[in-house]
Amino acid sequence: MQPIRKVVIPVAGWGTRSLPATKNIPKEMLPIYNKPVIQYVVEEAQAAGMSDVILITNRDKSVIEDHFDHNLQLEGYLKQKGKDSMLQVVQDVAEMVNIISIRQKQQKGLGHAISCARSAIGNEPFAIMVGDDLIFSGMPGIKQLIEVAMSENMPVVGVMEVPWDRVDRYGIVDGEQVGSGIYRVNNLVEKPSRDKAPSRLAIVGRYVLTPDIFDYLDKTAPGVGGEVQLTDAMQALCKERGMMAVKIRGKRFDAGNWPEFLSANIYFGLQDENIRYPLIDDLKEFLQLE
Ligand code: G1P
Repeated sequence: MQPIRKVVIPVAGWGTRSLPATKNIPKEMLPIYNKPVIQYVVEEAQAAGMSDVILITNRDKSVIEDHFDHNLQLEGYLKQKGKDSMLQVVQDVAEMVNIISIRQKQQKGLGHAISCARSAIGNEPFAIMVGDDLIFSGMPGIKQLIEVAMSENMPVVGVMEVPWDRVDRYGIVDGEQVGSGIYRVNNLVEKPSRDKAPSRLAIVGRYVLTPDIFDYLDKTAPGVGGEVQLTDAMQALCKERGMMAVKIRGKRFDAGNWPEFLSANIYFGLQDENIRYPLIDDLKEFLQLE
């Protein structure tokens, strides 16, 4: 398989789970400690060697593109004030990756959003990272998939085990374990009820796919929720060329879920020596631990 240079990040959703915070701010721009959610996802892509980020956006999301560009006025101000380390931080974000932005002109589901990237992807394998699934681990989550895609020459989907009472929120994989945390996929099903779920291996917003997925997406009828489901097109791709699943090692936060969003903030705050101890003191007080 050719090296993976491009990643599609769909960011056209309304973010209704995060209202009213997202009334006028894209959910991807909500901060987790001192960076917006989307920056963590792009950093993961960059750490896995990707250079081109294809954002599937809508008319209200241009602030995301701006975040990954220079802000000359701000840079000039920081320079004038001698705030060199912060200047470096904001310049680095602007230089991280190339951003290609494509409008999803109708909201017809994740599968439809991905199909909007067809001409930007061309004929090479590519990654997909869902913009509000944050994964933290020693080896970037998407890189764990890329390694298996390269060695097996097959599309790969990232999974994690979820409790049985949550299988109906995810795409679920029916697979046969062939190595430590590695599965050969037999079937995929989008948001099954608990009694229809073949396992509790849930798709967690990380994929490495081959460009033939676009032909399957074109043929995919609306599925669960009346939306064109990526999972349904992947089921067809899986039958045709095979597919692997990798149980991602690391910690996942769904940024659209308030307890997980808040936990992620605390998790990152605790990593920073500058705020770690005052934060712990406050948490102890809130929890009345001492
Ligand atoms: C999408 C996918 C689903 C996957 C999930 C991961 O669902 O359709 O298969 O498990 O992302 O976050 P959504 O959360 O957009 O409903």
